[in-house]
Amino acid sequence: MSWFPEKKSGQSWIHRVCQRILKNGPIPKHVAFIMDGNRRFAVKNHMERAEGHFRGFDKLSETLEWCLDIGITEVTVYAFSIENFKRSKDEVDCLMELARQKFTRLMQEKELIQKHQVCVRVLGNLSLLPLDIQEVIADCVQFSKDNERAVLNVCFSYTSREEICAAMREIAEGVQLGLIKDSDVSEDLMEKCLYTSQSPHPDLLIRTSGEVRLSDFLLWQTSFSCLSFVEVLWPEFSIWHLYGAILHYQRNYPAIQRAIDSAMSDRERRQRESDCSCVLSDHKSSDQSNYSMTEQILQYAKHREARLEQFLQHVNSKRLCYFKELVSRHKTTGV
Ligand code: FPP
Ligand code: MG
Repeated sequence: MSWFPEKKSGQSWIHRVCQRILKNGPIPKHVAFIMDGNRRFAVKNHMERAEGHFRGFDKLSETLEWCLDIGITEVTVYAFSIENFKRSKDEVDCLMELARQKFTRLMQEKELIQKHQVCVRVLGNLSLLPLDIQEVIADCVQFSKDNERAVLNVCFSYTSREEICAAMREIAEGVQLGLIKDSDVSEDLMEKCLYTSQSPHPDLLIRTSGEVRLSDFLLWQTSFSCLSFVEVLWPEFSIWHLYGAILHYQRNYPAIQRAIDSAMSDRERRQRESDCSCVLSDHKSSDQSNYSMTEQILQYAKHREARLEQFLQHVNSKRLCYFKELVSRHKTTGV
């Protein structure tokens, strides 16, 4: 099965009616999935473990179609955790082979990516992956990067704590190189250095298989997400489970929005206080300025923003270089 359907699969009238009812309420723009339960599904259905993972991929493809159909424009999936490297060699090889096949197929079906205008991003510590997989991933990411209708983030070789450590290392290096000041370190900067920096936070997170933990997935990004834990194993997930989770999101929407608004205004207040204390400490060590305190704070904020923009360009150009190098390697090795 490919990632995106060639033709739209038909929907029954009952689906269309339910979809119309749901569309009267807020539809989450970004949904994250912990696709759990593939192996239990395999055992339950007397299959090889590998078959469970392949069925898991088919379910992902179906789910993407349901999401696009109802107006969910961004999906993030946990496809392979760094912890999964601890599984048996056979299983890790099987999951790597699945990724190799599916990303290669995606590149063979470029016209489908273009037809659906989907931007595919792969998030995680890709350097832990076999080189040929890094290369085909880089190809997909580079090829689809300007597509704007929908975004698919595949977290592969990912854990949230590794992501946060990687972001902290970028920031520490920025301070060390003198590109930013230690007082520039903020929640906002941290977010912009995460692998997910180009995405809004998920509105809804769905985990299948009855497990009720986040397992090191998007820990930073899901502080204000609506969480939905469903009992079925991932390959058994149906459109009704998706609709149920959206309904759960709609019921909790007002409380979530209030929490987000309050956190955002707190964050802005903290930034203003930080700018103010920086100006005050500069004041102590330099001559009196001709400008009023308010003007000086505004000026300081402008300089801080310019400094951060330059630093983030530096971080992004490193990532871009990494992908470009892999793409040109792929072209020369022709794998
Ligand atoms: C969790 O089930 C699932 C995984 C570790 C792999 C998920 C991968 C896919 C669904 C395919 C996606 C592939 C690509 C290339 C995007 P589990 O193995 O933990 O099963 P269990 O909970 O029953 O033990
Ligand atoms: Mg599991």
